[in-house]
Amino acid sequence: MTITTCIFDAYGTLFDVNAAARQVAEEPGQDKLAEVWPKLSADWRAKQLEYSWLRSIADRHIDFWQVTQDGLDWAMDAAGLHDNALRARLLAVYKELPAYPEVPAMLEALKAKGMNIAILSNGSPTMLVSAVRSAGIGQWLDDVLSVEEVGVFKPHRAVYDLVFDHYGETQDKVLFVSSNGWDVSGAAGYGFATIWVNRAGLPADRLWASPHRILRDLTEIPDLI
Ligand code: LAC
Repeated sequence: MTITTCIFDAYGTLFDVNAAARQVAEEPGQDKLAEVWPKLSADWRAKQLEYSWLRSIADRHIDFWQVTQDGLDWAMDAAGLHDNALRARLLAVYKELPAYPEVPAMLEALKAKGMNIAILSNGSPTMLVSAVRSAGIGQWLDDVLSVEEVGVFKPHRAVYDLVFDHYGETQDKVLFVSSNGWDVSGAAGYGFATIWVNRAGLPADRLWASPHRILRDLTEIPDLI
């Protein structure tokens, strides 16, 4: 198998999705958030994803920025946080999430091996451009592909088709990397070689296809190509 193209999920894979709640909880005057941020962050992410899947099933697409706001509103409500300034602050930091520490060196090593490198994400183009810029990883990316091109969220196969549309590479030439077990199932079922980055040590998802490799973070990936 000769891999030519490495495709990365964005949120939770390259960008630290918990950083928004964690960072804002450390700011002065955020005592209430400091108590509840881990649950708020988990609820926010869970609802963001749930709403993306429900909207795809119901054929009621809106972009991921709106889904992200809707998920946060549910999570803040569940935490008893009714604070518009806090909401605005969390969303502002979400637009500028940091990359996980190993990301720059990993991308640089893949580029040195001549790989095509792209993001394929549920994120809207505006969100993704902002996150790539703030994380400082744009120099290693050939493309930032958003589901907005097809108007449905992962794991719909129309999203994975975008890789062929942009690179003309068949599935066996593509490595797809995600920290989301369901996304890896979608990509593995589609025919990509897949790596599940299981940072949290979660059990495997019981879906229609399994990852080819499981790693704790992204560090080893260039050595596996
Ligand atoms: C993404 C979400 C699923 O970046 O994390 O597509």
